Amino acid sequence: MNQSGKTITICMGSSCYARGNVYNIEIIQSWLRQHGLEAEIEVVGTLCEGQCRQGPIVKIGAAVYQGVTASSISEILAHEFLEVHHG
Ligand code: FES
Repeated sequence: MNQSGKTITICMGSSCYARGNVYNIEIIQSWLRQHGLEAEIEVVGTLCEGQCRQGPIVKIGAAVYQGVTASSISEILAHEFLEVHHG
């Protein structure tokens, strides 16, 4: 089912949520829709990861991204899911 083998885990703990994940989740979902990946990539919420100081926390597969902002999230998504293969 999940061809990319990756799950996006968004910290929905109150600190991360209030500091940006409230927007990041929307951006992630619309980005996946725009790129036709919404059926392939699972997006799940998690409770506080104990890294509030470094938050907002977004995990993609095994990678943990800290301090994720509305402007960095699309770059992160492109990096993770649109590996461009330069000739
Ligand atoms: S609320 Fe996200 S790490 Fe604590």
